Amino acid sequence: MCGIVGYVGERNAAPIIVEGLKCLEYRGYDSFGLAVADGTATDGGGRLTVIKKQGRISDAGSEVSLAVGNIGIGHTRWATHGVPSDVNAHPHTDCTGDIAVVHNGIIENYAELKKALIAEGHVFKSETDTEVIAHLLEKFRNAAAEKGLSGTDMVDFAVKNLMDTLEGSFALLILIRGFNGLIAIKRFSPLVLGIGDDELFASSDMTPILEHTQKILLLEDNDYAYLMPDGIRLFSYPSAKTVEREVKTVDWDVESAKKGGYEYFMEKEIFEQPAVFVNSFRQKIDDGAVSVLKKASSITVVACGSSYHAGLIFRYLMEKYCKIPVRVEIASEFLNFTTAKDTAVIAVTQSGETADTLAALRHAKANGCPVFAVTNVLGSSVTRIADYVLYTRAGPEISVAATKSFIAQCAVLLRIVSIIGKGIFEKELFEIYPVLEETLLFDPADASAVCKDAENIFYVGRGVYYPISLEGALKMKEITYIHAEGCAAGELKHGPFSLLTPKTPVVAVCTKDDAYPVMISNIKEMKARGAPVIAIGSGGDADLKEIADIFIPLPRSKNICEVISATIILQMIAYNTAVLLGRDVDKPRNLAKSVTVI
Ligand code: AGP
Repeated sequence: MCGIVGYVGERNAAPIIVEGLKCLEYRGYDSFGLAVADGTATDGGGRLTVIKKQGRISDAGSEVSLAVGNIGIGHTRWATHGVPSDVNAHPHTDCTGDIAVVHNGIIENYAELKKALIAEGHVFKSETDTEVIAHLLEKFRNAAAEKGLSGTDMVDFAVKNLMDTLEGSFALLILIRGFNGLIAIKRFSPLVLGIGDDELFASSDMTPILEHTQKILLLEDNDYAYLMPDGIRLFSYPSAKTVEREVKTVDWDVESAKKGGYEYFMEKEIFEQPAVFVNSFRQKIDDGAVSVLKKASSITVVACGSSYHAGLIFRYLMEKYCKIPVRVEIASEFLNFTTAKDTAVIAVTQSGETADTLAALRHAKANGCPVFAVTNVLGSSVTRIADYVLYTRAGPEISVAATKSFIAQCAVLLRIVSIIGKGIFEKELFEIYPVLEETLLFDPADASAVCKDAENIFYVGRGVYYPISLEGALKMKEITYIHAEGCAAGELKHGPFSLLTPKTPVVAVCTKDDAYPVMISNIKEMKARGAPVIAIGSGGDADLKEIADIFIPLPRSKNICEVISATIILQMIAYNTAVLLGRDVDKPRNLAKSVTVI
């Protein structure tokens, strides 16, 4: 997830682009850049001015705003292909420097396109997927010229061929020397236009636009537009027909726009999970990494907090479906243990900077183990220790409490299980999007109303629902400040039962899997001791509905999908309870997003 912004008007574009990128920094902040075109460049003379750097736009010097030109595009980056660096920062240009592109999204077929373009003589400067777009446009512009096409006809030809060729998600803003406007293209990634007085804006979301105008135009997938000094020309691919899109007047302030109209980033990030899961699961895992994992005598996961819980879920499924023994160790304790050389060690870490996890991975590496990292941040410290790096595709997570990053970790780890397990549950998880969309329709009001007055809360489950109970309890603890404990349901009788009272709700995850019968009797035992039971179960489970005080049916789906939808339900209960208690949900007390000290 990156942020892109564009401007066409009479004012100097650069300072407007710079301020716009600062508004979009929550979408990515590891590098930035802009390109502007002045009158000469748009008339085919002059050159595009391109400035790009590693680092945050908010730390950039004033020289960036001094670039001259009344048409401009800008980008703030969350690296997915190519580590954060000056050369991998956007805009990316073609061989001539006449075409500049900023992009938010992922070009799935970039590798084969790059190979073909290099064979045709194009020279690439970066490791990004985006740069293929600039060279493709160069190729199509040249082809158009050979057909005698110029100006808008040339652009029409180039854009059509580009959209024919690219696979994946993209919101693009493009400058072409000699074209008096900027080109905006949308497919699956967000892109909105803003209509000001004699000036036009384009952006990943409306935050940079709102201080200039409230008149917003939402593009639809496969729309493309030319933002020209005399107005917007809007078309739809592949028909190339002119289309109308409604101009809306919005009264949001910049802060709420950053959250996309959600009250907190945590809520926004919870609602991003259907796409995040699919994007993270539907990716190719490096063959070399898979073969090392297959050859390993066992696997050890090292991690902290939510990432540790994702590791535990991986253990249950890897042992069940691939019969490979898996240990999961709290990273800060791992140095106390020995690990055999033929054990593959996986560090799971959203930030890639958690000191305990880095130390654990270095310890394993020093022991001669093949080391892996599952992380969300390109170029983070863990990527420099690991032999193999697997990326989650959650984008930047602003809220301290891990939600979408956790679901993305589950997706990548489940992908490993699926690949080593010869495609086990691949179909179900490829098609999980509508199940998760339906899960988000859940109303947590009743459950959180019970939780908010609780002294203690127990989360219980069996099998893979034990680590999910741990994760549910952690979410509740860290954002509501209510003590919550995740427990293997079979363990309660061995002590914690003594704590059960009418003021100690139990959240039980009890789907129709192998553990169902014994889970039902466990729930009856808890009820018998007066604890109110909030039960999350398979859709249509009348027996569980009968027993529980509050029954939360999961969307009807395969068991493996219920693992993910149940997790989202637990996140929503914790989130809503924290809102009811008036907590600072995104920045809970005493916590940091990344714990970089031992
Ligand atoms: C989870 O909501 C917390 N933010 C915390 O437990 C977190 O999971 C832990 O600090 C690990 O962080 P990492 O994934 O960045 O290594």
